[in-house]
Amino acid sequence: MTKLTESAAWQALQQHYAEIKDVHMKDLFAQDEQRFDRFSLPLNDILFDYSKNRINDQTLQLLIQLAQQCGVEQWRDRMFAGEVINHTEQRAVQHSALRYQGDEPQFADGQRIDIEINKELQRVKSLAQRIRNREWRGHSNQPITDVVNIGIGGSHLGPLMVTEALHPYTIHDLKIHYVSNIDENHINNTLEDLNPDTTLFIIASKSFTTQEALVNAATARQWLLERLQSEADLPKHLVAVTSNIKAAVEFGVAEENIFKMWDWVGGRYSLWSAIGLSIVISIGPSQFDALLQGAYEVDEHFKQAPLTENIPVIMALLGIWYNNFFGAESIVILPYDQNMHRFPAYLQQADMESNGKSCDRDGNPVDYSTGPVLFGEIGISGQHAFYQLLHQGSKLVPADMLAPISNYRCIATHHRALMSNIFAQTEALMIGKNEAEVIAELEQQGLDEAAIEQLLPYKLFPGNRPTNSFLFYTLDPKTLGSLIALYEHKIFVQGIIWNLNSFDQWGVELGKKLASHILDEINQGEAVSNHDASTNGLINYYLNLKPKKF
Ligand code: F6P
Repeated sequence: MTKLTESAAWQALQQHYAEIKDVHMKDLFAQDEQRFDRFSLPLNDILFDYSKNRINDQTLQLLIQLAQQCGVEQWRDRMFAGEVINHTEQRAVQHSALRYQGDEPQFADGQRIDIEINKELQRVKSLAQRIRNREWRGHSNQPITDVVNIGIGGSHLGPLMVTEALHPYTIHDLKIHYVSNIDENHINNTLEDLNPDTTLFIIASKSFTTQEALVNAATARQWLLERLQSEADLPKHLVAVTSNIKAAVEFGVAEENIFKMWDWVGGRYSLWSAIGLSIVISIGPSQFDALLQGAYEVDEHFKQAPLTENIPVIMALLGIWYNNFFGAESIVILPYDQNMHRFPAYLQQADMESNGKSCDRDGNPVDYSTGPVLFGEIGISGQHAFYQLLHQGSKLVPADMLAPISNYRCIATHHRALMSNIFAQTEALMIGKNEAEVIAELEQQGLDEAAIEQLLPYKLFPGNRPTNSFLFYTLDPKTLGSLIALYEHKIFVQGIIWNLNSFDQWGVELGKKLASHILDEINQGEAVSNHDASTNGLINYYLNLKPKKF
């Protein structure tokens, strides 16, 4: 296969970049009254507007050629067919089977999986319903009032993000807490206000080997044991979600309280599985079905829409355009919906753990830039924090802005102001402000010529900063499911084009291994000398000053 950067499609894009890089979007809009209509796509309740990008018809055509040349459609079909496309772990990638709503059997590596998926989903729903109906009782026969999900990474961020995003749909007399950090503050702060009689813990860990999850789970178990009447009461307060049933049983979780997941679901793609148990408890089985339905509809769109109208494909290609041709190093995710405040953090893992790689699928180092640094914040908060850099900084940071047309209560004074801000920001980033405009503005303020000349350079906005806008009717479970799936497939397409395996995460191994070795050294308490001078120095400084009670 031709190297990506030497391929015909890449070379054509390189040449096209030289032609278009200085073209201003303002001019593209001025030349084409239909630009918004031509470069925006509806999908159910979502409108995807990508007209404020530094593209023309030819750009899109060349980017689509790149996708075709890289076999995006063929890889997509292989993923949905359950082939082992995660080759370094010998696993299929079938998170989309978890939300499949059709009648066809689903497979992972040749094994039928839909029957088992459905069985586990029913178990999850049944537990959730019993808790919601106050039928699941703790050891003192009281209903559950608090659920604590213990897990990290994909066993934390997805469920947390979704329960926060769907706040209006959550049951109010039941609180869901999330504990991820091994720092004792996280679990202690959470336990402080909880009553063991009415608390249920979910230990969520696909591998059931993750240190953070297991240390927190052990603390939770101990907390329960010290407060319950006997160990036999534990099953009323402890359940687990894992693909490592044996380890969960050894830890002390009753087998009937273990919910299964599978190795063909990546942790960061697992909120659709039993890892979403806390979501189902929180929003209820039928709303969880709506979340799955929204994602399923995007799966179908991704499978069936021509590439030119395929939203995740276009999202991916625009990302590649800036990342690989304009040299943009980062992207920013800006939801204009307070309930989506964990959405950027969730996407950080989804994107950066998937495509933050520099070894290609064939084991060769890449000679092109891959996954961007992804950051984000609630848009309104970002405006008063880091938008300065987006508008006038020396870096190009393509932005995704997301907003609901209508929110839960929809108080006009709040919502109209909110919407005016998102529209204004995408417009300002695109049009900027030129010399003539700044001068006119300052003259109107009554400044004299000298003062204007002095202030002028600081007041210029280059504009031409790209944004994608996602407007959706309201952030209901179905729409949220769709939005998440759009990003999942975007990440998939980019991974294919960069020739990466987006579904392993070897880069997290080294730190884990070293931490385990250093933990042994700390436990021994002797001064160390086998690391580099800085690491030795830090460990020894800690050992000298460590809290007295150790
Ligand atoms: O260390 C990274 C990671 O493996 C993620 O990929 C995963 O989501 C997280 O840890 C948690 O893993 P587990 O669910 O196995 O505890």
